Amino acid sequence: MDRIVILTGAGISAESGLGTFRDEGGLWARHRIEDVATPEGFARDAELVHDFYNARRKQAARARPNAAHRALAHLQAEHAGEVVIVTQNVDALHEAAGSIGVLHMHGTLARALCAHCGHRWSAPDEMAADTPCPSCGHGAARPDVVWFGEMPHHLDEIWELLQGATLFAAIGTSGQVHPAAGFALQAREAGAHTVELTLERSQVSDDFDETRNGPATRVVPDWVSGILRGRG
Ligand code: APR
Repeated sequence: MDRIVILTGAGISAESGLGTFRDEGGLWARHRIEDVATPEGFARDAELVHDFYNARRKQAARARPNAAHRALAHLQAEHAGEVVIVTQNVDALHEAAGSIGVLHMHGTLARALCAHCGHRWSAPDEMAADTPCPSCGHGAARPDVVWFGEMPHHLDEIWELLQGATLFAAIGTSGQVHPAAGFALQAREAGAHTVELTLERSQVSDDFDETRNGPATRVVPDWVSGILRGRG
């Protein structure tokens, strides 16, 4: 039985209106990573961090999945082999398109985490530093997203999946953040065919057997229909 492992990044949600990080005018052009996406930044100014994620949570809640998200859900539903989606994205557009078992290695905007006791719950629309934890009551709520310097989720499971992958695709990611940026080489070493589907070549394009450039809403449905017609 074949196994397709798909890694997605901000580029797959770009055409749903959600900004990417490193494109022209992206999120990191307008916010300092050290202020809004590190534990130190949260310790320094929790309200600034909550404002940043409250705005992203609101925008993500308004966004709708696009043809690329829907094509991946269709692949999961129709393909005879295993199809696993690993995403760096914190939006819920894969699930909204019907995908199942999505591994959110950088967490999700939809969840809150108690920095005091580790309890996780559905994030309120507006979260603040004094939002009480439903479990321990402390006002230590933070977004349940992985910040720079923190360990991404599901890494053991992802490494196992890559070892047995027959096909690995990276969609809409610039390949600038590890460990996700190294998945293509790991899959290739394990014998998988590797393909990169992004708007333009990334700094890790040479790690892939194949690169197809263009907007995800065109390139991903084409790629999926090729697989389902039996041409990978
Ligand atoms: N279709 C396909 N790809 C696109 C599109 C599009 N419409 N628009 C942009 N892209 C591509 C860009 O060419 C780029 O390669 O999406 C990629 C976006 O790269 P980044 O902004 O760096 O986003 P990502 O790779 O997901 O960042 C990884 O970095 O800041 C951290 O935690 C954050 O998960 C994020 C991680």
